[in-house]
Amino acid sequence: MLSFITAGALLWATLVLSSPAPPPTPQGGVGLEATPSYHVTSDFDFQSLNLALNQEYIELDLFHHGLAVFSVEEFEAAGLDAEDRFLIEFMADQEAGHAILVSNMLGARAAKQCNYTYPFDTVREFVDFCQKLTRFGESGVYGFLEHLDNRASAEMLLQSITTEARQQMIFRQFEGLFPMPVYFETGITQSMAWTLLSRYITHCPEENPRIEWQNFPALYVVNDPTQRALAMNVTPSITHNLSLPLTTPGQQVELTWEDPGKTVGYDGLYTTTTTAGAPKYAAWIAQLNITYTPLENINGNCASTKQPIGEVFGVNTAPIVNGTIFVLITDDNPVITPANLSLLNAHVVAGPAIYQAG
Ligand SMILES: *[C@@H]1O[C@H](CO)[C@@H](O)[C@H](O)[C@H]1NC(C)=O
Ligand SMILES: *[C@@H]1O[C@H](CO)[C@@H](O)[C@H](O)[C@H]1NC(C)=O
Ligand SMILES: *[C@@H]1O[C@H](CO)[C@@H](O)[C@H](O)[C@H]1NC(C)=O
Ligand SMILES: *[C@@H]1O[C@H](CO)[C@@H](O)[C@H](O)[C@H]1NC(C)=O
Ligand SMILES: *[C@@H]1O[C@H](CO)[C@@H](O)[C@H](O)[C@H]1NC(C)=O
Repeated sequence: MLSFITAGALLWATLVLSSPAPPPTPQGGVGLEATPSYHVTSDFDFQSLNLALNQEYIELDLFHHGLAVFSVEEFEAAGLDAEDRFLIEFMADQEAGHAILVSNMLGARAAKQCNYTYPFDTVREFVDFCQKLTRFGESGVYGFLEHLDNRASAEMLLQSITTEARQQMIFRQFEGLFPMPVYFETGITQSMAWTLLSRYITHCPEENPRIEWQNFPALYVVNDPTQRALAMNVTPSITHNLSLPLTTPGQQVELTWEDPGKTVGYDGLYTTTTTAGAPKYAAWIAQLNITYTPLENINGNCASTKQPIGEVFGVNTAPIVNGTIFVLITDDNPVITPANLSLLNAHVVAGPAIYQAG
């Protein structure tokens, strides 16, 4: 036995001594310190993760709620069997794990779970809502992840949001949609995500830290293509070529929006605001693009516009607008790219609304 180990050690030593030197580590990189700390320090990080935690909590509640309020028969009629329901249950478990992770990074002041209100009456509407809620949860994190001061917490948040991205795609599959009709998953700002999230939170523990992002006035798509998606007689499937796309580039879109000054969010604690001037454009946030189309027929808080035409990199399978995307009303059309998207906040008159393009 002893001689066997000795022989092994000898062989190992010979291999190490005869092996060439490893290549030097390339220069550069950030956040490569030996003992990273995952605790947030800056206000920007705290508030970004505070928003993310509130998002994780609603997902956890939503998945349980759907499983609790619909009967087995209702799920089966929507084509979702016991194994599909177990997958939704497992997604709730994942959310509980994400909430623990983000709470740990936030420390003692981390928010607790709240009470929520949901806009669905049927299993198909529940699945559609899950697909949209996880879309803005995912995009909301992509909007700030690369701007966090603490790269260590960004690393772990990334590892949770990649899981959420899979959830979003699975809910699209449960809805019978094409699972991922884009080349790039888009990001939105914290204020845009908070505007979408705040309307579903009704009551929170008093000690929850205030969410310090802007609430924009709400925007609605009057001729919402979601109705077409819900009416389609499609069953859950890994992928579906829809016989007709939900929307087409250039089609007319009717929009209506609220004035600022409305009380929103939980416990009457938040008010919508805007710093923008008169409404002039619809801003479409999708793929890598922030694209503007002029508003037409502006009449008070209503206007129409056209769905953008164009493709990412000019590739015909990548129309700019496809999947579950975001549209806002703006007072200007500044050039914005994904990494300076927060400069758009000052120009937002209302929105975002979710636009169900495909
Ligand atoms: C409100 O939320 C708390 C904490 O999650 C929960 O215990 C309670 O049952 C909720 N109340 C209602 C009415 O949903
Ligand atoms: C699915 O749609 C693509 C793109 O329109 C088309 O090229 C392909 O033939 C379709 N496949 C089937 C099986 O319908
Ligand atoms: C969205 O993507 C699907 C899948 O590639 C495609 O069939 C459909 O035509 C696209 N929608 C638009 C509006 O181009
Ligand atoms: C956005 O879409 C256009 C096509 O309309 C494309 O030329 C451009 O490169 C895209 N990307 C960005 C970052 O704007
Ligand atoms: C955003 O960044 C792009 C470069 O990526 C730049 O051309 C544009 O001017 C910037 N937008 C604003 C409003 O500064």
